[in-house]
Amino acid sequence: MAEIKIEPNGVSSSAAAGYAIEVQHIVKKYGDFTAVDDVSFNVKEGEIFGLLGPNGAGKSTLIRMMTTLIPITSGMARIAGHDVAKDPNAVRRTIGVIPQALTSDLDLTVEENLNIYAKLYDVPAKERKRSIEELLGLVDLTKWRDAQTKTLSGGMRRRLEIARGLVHHPKIFFLDEPTTGLDPVSRVAVWEMLGNIKSQRQLTILITTHYMDEADRLCDRIAIVDHGKLVALDTPMALKASVPGSNVIEAQFENPPEDWEQRLHTLDEVTSVQHEGAGMYRVLTGNGSRTTTELVEMAVGAGVAVKSLSVQNTTLDDVFVHYTGRQLRDELQKAYAFVMPQSPGLRP
Ligand SMILES: Nc1ncnc2c1ncn2[C@@H]1O[C@H](COP(=O)(O)OP(=O)(O)OP(=O)(O)O)[C@@H](O)[C@H]1O
Ligand SMILES: [Mg+2]
Repeated sequence: MAEIKIEPNGVSSSAAAGYAIEVQHIVKKYGDFTAVDDVSFNVKEGEIFGLLGPNGAGKSTLIRMMTTLIPITSGMARIAGHDVAKDPNAVRRTIGVIPQALTSDLDLTVEENLNIYAKLYDVPAKERKRSIEELLGLVDLTKWRDAQTKTLSGGMRRRLEIARGLVHHPKIFFLDEPTTGLDPVSRVAVWEMLGNIKSQRQLTILITTHYMDEADRLCDRIAIVDHGKLVALDTPMALKASVPGSNVIEAQFENPPEDWEQRLHTLDEVTSVQHEGAGMYRVLTGNGSRTTTELVEMAVGAGVAVKSLSVQNTTLDDVFVHYTGRQLRDELQKAYAFVMPQSPGLRP
């Protein structure tokens, strides 16, 4: 089973310990169904903390509880030292939230959308103007300030929403899948922008994403959630090191025999084999070069042609498979088949 590494929960010395977010034994039940099941973690001030998990894992439910949008069934969450259940207004004043669905008003301009939020948060008129100016620059939308929101691309709308979530200078920023459905260029733009913002403002970021490469590069620590439970929590590097095997061989074979997966398993230092379909196998090994040699020899001996072969270091994808028993990519494909036709807002 997974190794769970959870830091000590300083109940009374929260703010002093430098925790922006503390979650202790938090549970969310919908009737008999437990969507979040006894999850505990702390996020340090200034950290970028990633929540990863397949569809339905409970990521959005966790964010909704932490941001006061739904009541907690049991357990406790404290944001900047404020108890979510006891002092929701204080929590709301310190946080910015970007929900999973796009929510800007399409008929308003970029600037009007920002202005409305600033007014909602009682940002004084003078400060409002200055802050909006700065944010438009930060998210690279100054040129588009007078454009109607419905004319923006998905990536630009995401950037607008990020700016909108920051108009009242929150200390803690929650983003629920800010890059899902965006093309790779827009995804990079959004992450770069978040990095910029973080370097200019004192900000703690909790973010959920489906993209392992992003999480690997940008998160200080990552929590993997599956079926409502926390299954692993550590830095990306430590998570990768916790998976047996240090290399991944991706190989495609021409018409391999039925028992090919088992045969690959018998090679020296192989810790796991995944058949990905169409003759493609993903082999985790403690010794990439040795396994590669053996694998090619075995294929030659069996008269099986090798169509392609690559050796890489272990990735967060492998971490995910190790801790959840399945691949995030498969889950995503299923989800997109369902979501894409109905959600124009999610398109790039
Ligand atoms: N209001 C609700 N009533 C009943 N069940 C719910 C409700 N909201 C969420 N759930 C269930 O709780 C589980 C967790 O949902 P949640 O939206 O938190 O998952 P997620 O990790 O954010 O998934 P995704 O990656 O698809 O956004 C799912 O099984 C979902 O069907
Ligand atoms: Mg979600």
